[in-house]
Amino acid sequence: MKNYFPEDFSETLFELLDIDIEYLPDDCYEAIFKLNKHWVKGAELVDYHADESTVLAYTLYYMPMNIPKLWSVLARCHKMMDSLIHKDKIRVVDIGSGPGTFSWALYFYLKEVYGAEIAAKLDFTLIDQSDLFLDKAKDLHTAFASETNLELKKGQWQDLTDASYDLAIVANILTEEADLSATCLNNIDAESILILEPGTQRDFQRLLPLRAELMKNRKIHFPCTAHGDCPMAEDNWCHFNINRFVLPFIQMISNKAGRLNHKHNFCAFVFSEIEIAYAKNDWRVLSKLRRVKRSGIRWICDGEDLVEAVLNRRKKSPGNTYFLEADTMALIRIEQESLAKTGRIAEGSTVNPPRQ
Ligand SMILES: C[S@@+](CC[C@H](N)C(=O)[O-])C[C@H]1O[C@@H](n2cnc3c(N)ncnc32)[C@H](O)[C@@H]1O
Repeated sequence: MKNYFPEDFSETLFELLDIDIEYLPDDCYEAIFKLNKHWVKGAELVDYHADESTVLAYTLYYMPMNIPKLWSVLARCHKMMDSLIHKDKIRVVDIGSGPGTFSWALYFYLKEVYGAEIAAKLDFTLIDQSDLFLDKAKDLHTAFASETNLELKKGQWQDLTDASYDLAIVANILTEEADLSATCLNNIDAESILILEPGTQRDFQRLLPLRAELMKNRKIHFPCTAHGDCPMAEDNWCHFNINRFVLPFIQMISNKAGRLNHKHNFCAFVFSEIEIAYAKNDWRVLSKLRRVKRSGIRWICDGEDLVEAVLNRRKKSPGNTYFLEADTMALIRIEQESLAKTGRIAEGSTVNPPRQ
């Protein structure tokens, strides 16, 4: 995955947070350990958004670590991106924005991939309940994206009903809702809705009723390639991963926090009013981390059928090539549909990656 961080990202962030990365204060590490235990082990955590050192720790560590997740999804949503970049203004609402993680991620991406002029068309609304996070978002906007419009709203995202948007980003927030109802996003008036949540079984399974609800008046653009009922059983979950170590200081802090695995898992969905038609034989390659851990298997799914794609035992068989290379999130087109249904990629079959 390409890295779209601006060259001076780390230095500007340290300056803005007024920290010396070589000598991070203990309370910053303690806050990171506390958040880490909460998200990895489900330990209790109260009001982290009202505590100065925890907000700083989030902005320093979790914000940059999360940013590449959005890039990896946007890179696979060409139809939605084509529509966004042709608008006069790109109106984005960042729900439970925290420090504005995914607003800045979107800005960096648009600037690099589509050019500075398009990035400057961004019109951001960030809504969060926390003054401390909104203050950080304001500073980050000045430092990184000052040519874009910014509106900061303090309040509960559930009360947001007064405007319409081209894109709503809902990230790492539904996981905090004790009672996640299927209709909880119905108030959000947005052409496209992008959801990014932790890559756990609990979080994925909680999103399924929401997926079904949003599919009533939108098309699913990611990850599913068919507009059907999700085939994941209750003890399974669809997730992807990015490398969390693209910035050296994240690796340094992770080492101290004992998070040695470079893979950072997440669940993601994109729903849009924009029409999309994947081919019948388009499949998404899911993460390798599955219930059944056997070598030579890739899980592929089209949103209706979940299949273990079994590689041909002769490793060099042309049918294996794309599977061996296919990364998590790749879209592959299997020319012989029946083979995909049984999961067996027979010798001589072709597996072609369509445009991502
Ligand atoms: C885990 S952070 C995620 C921040 C950002 N979206 C990200 O992924 O990096 C959750 C944020 O949602 C905010 N939040 C939680 N519940 C909220 C609510 N009901 N209304 C508004 N903001 C909320 C918190 O204050 C916090 O800033």
